[in-house]
Amino acid sequence: MRVRNLVALVVMIAVAWAAWRSWPRPELEITVSGPPLVNVTVPALGAQDRVGEAAFSNNCAVCHGRNAAGRQGIAPPLVHKIYEPDHHGDEAFVRAAQRGVRAHHWPFGDMPPVKDITDTEIDSIIAYIRTLQRANGIR
Ligand code: HEC
Repeated sequence: MRVRNLVALVVMIAVAWAAWRSWPRPELEITVSGPPLVNVTVPALGAQDRVGEAAFSNNCAVCHGRNAAGRQGIAPPLVHKIYEPDHHGDEAFVRAAQRGVRAHHWPFGDMPPVKDITDTEIDSIIAYIRTLQRANGIR
């Protein structure tokens, strides 16, 4: 094989791997166990909500479930009255993602800090969760 072909092949593999890694694949991560704890109605999502949905799928859904509906035995639904803005303001989400959470409302154990998450991602996740909450009568 010519060197140029080999280089092209390596580049193609690297690009494919990077695309595969960065692709949101909530289905894949969430098939292990832990059925949802609540039924969540998903409304039309705006641009920022959709960015938040992707960030949530990549960083939070493995525990909090698809559409933040919770996962039995793993983590609570964030579409829940406990997490309405008056009780858990946006700051609580920032703190949870950056520093983790000591178990206090649920029997699921502590939430570890979420590594490598940016402020922008957290902001978009909050927008997404608030949209889901409003669509499910939590405000
Ligand atoms: C490894 C599992 C896991 C991951 C990943 C995870 N969480 Fe959690 N989270 C939990 C558990 C368990 C609790 C419940 C703690 C309790 O008992 O109150 C929780 C609680 C929370 C709370 C409530 C905080 C409070 O002050 O009570 C928020 C907000 C939250 N998570 C947001 C997020 C967001 C946003 C992400 C992704 C960036 C995320 N979580 C990722 C497990 C997880």
